[in-house]
Amino acid sequence: ETVDCSRLLCLPAAVDMHVHMRGGEQAYKENFATGTASAVAGGVTVVVDQPNTIPPITTAERLRSRVEEAHRQAVCGFAVNAGVTGDADLAGMWRAGALAFGETFAAPSSYGEALPPEILAPLFERIRQLGGLATVHAEEVAGDRPLATLTGHDRARPAAGEVLAVTAVGRLAPPGLRLHFCHLSTADAVDAARGSVEVTPHHLFLSREAFDPDDAAGKVNPPLRSERERKRLWSRWEKIDVIASDHAPHTHGEKSRGIAAAPSGIPGVETMVPLLVAEARKRRIPLPSVIEKTSWKPADLLGIPRAGFAPGDRADYALYPESIAKVDPDQLHSRCGWSPYAGYDAVFPAEVIVQGVRAYHDGAVAAALPRWHPGAGYNTSEDL
Ligand code: NCD
Repeated sequence: ETVDCSRLLCLPAAVDMHVHMRGGEQAYKENFATGTASAVAGGVTVVVDQPNTIPPITTAERLRSRVEEAHRQAVCGFAVNAGVTGDADLAGMWRAGALAFGETFAAPSSYGEALPPEILAPLFERIRQLGGLATVHAEEVAGDRPLATLTGHDRARPAAGEVLAVTAVGRLAPPGLRLHFCHLSTADAVDAARGSVEVTPHHLFLSREAFDPDDAAGKVNPPLRSERERKRLWSRWEKIDVIASDHAPHTHGEKSRGIAAAPSGIPGVETMVPLLVAEARKRRIPLPSVIEKTSWKPADLLGIPRAGFAPGDRADYALYPESIAKVDPDQLHSRCGWSPYAGYDAVFPAEVIVQGVRAYHDGAVAAALPRWHPGAGYNTSEDL
């Protein structure tokens, strides 16, 4: 099969190292079939699922069955992160093919409160011994102690708390641990991070001023910040290692329950690269920096081959038209059925190639596709 690339911009496809594909009893929000279709339609061909599923991924058995679920449903590459709790089977999950550890640690999560330093420190040491990547939520720590959980815009997880959390986690981490800070939302935290830095599209494109105080569409962890803080975050563009979506689908009905009752989370796997390509088209950021932060750097951190054009590269590409379009939530593929980016400038791919096979063309995801699991065959060493 030949793909006509004339007048299309061909980029290495993205690796989104922070998504929530749901499934199980949360399949009404999303599952691997709908979530990866949404990914592919947005130029993302590898997704890394986070372990806060129901039940959470904290044992090798659960990790294996989550990988099997993805194998049955996904339409692109995928990996599953190991959840980290005090009694989680880290080595077992690593051997079962986890590509990274976390999210969890320093923020309260759906599977428990934030881990205190005395539990966190030995977990860090174990992850260092395994050679894993520790992906950390450093959102809500004062000094070295976690704060209580609250919900809502900026009332909890204040901007100043993030830099304290990042610093506290950095102090606790043993030398040699590969630390990755998930979804940093403030410029000061980016400056303070000793490890790789991940930032989401929503903290770059949305601020709390864009939402009514009682509108939960913008409710997310960590919270959207002020418009001033959003602009400061862009000023750190060069320091950001990875852009990842934290795609956290909840239905429109759930998000309409008002600020206190609605769940936190914003969908974004399909709009992430299109929003950034539009910024590059407007010459606000260099196009090569988009490729670095959405494709190459996350692949390097996870230890999977880069997508690209050299021999040995992964044959995952997305082809973009010249014109800038507007986001239309009705055209998106996530089951959650809404997007906070309606009307935003975006360049969506016209074609997406996964493992050399045409996976997406003219708005439609192909039926039979090469799903693959980069974790398979990894981390099999017996001496773990
Ligand atoms: C996440 C989700 O919905 O899974 N939501 C979010 O706001 N980022 C969970 C979480 O990290 O709170």
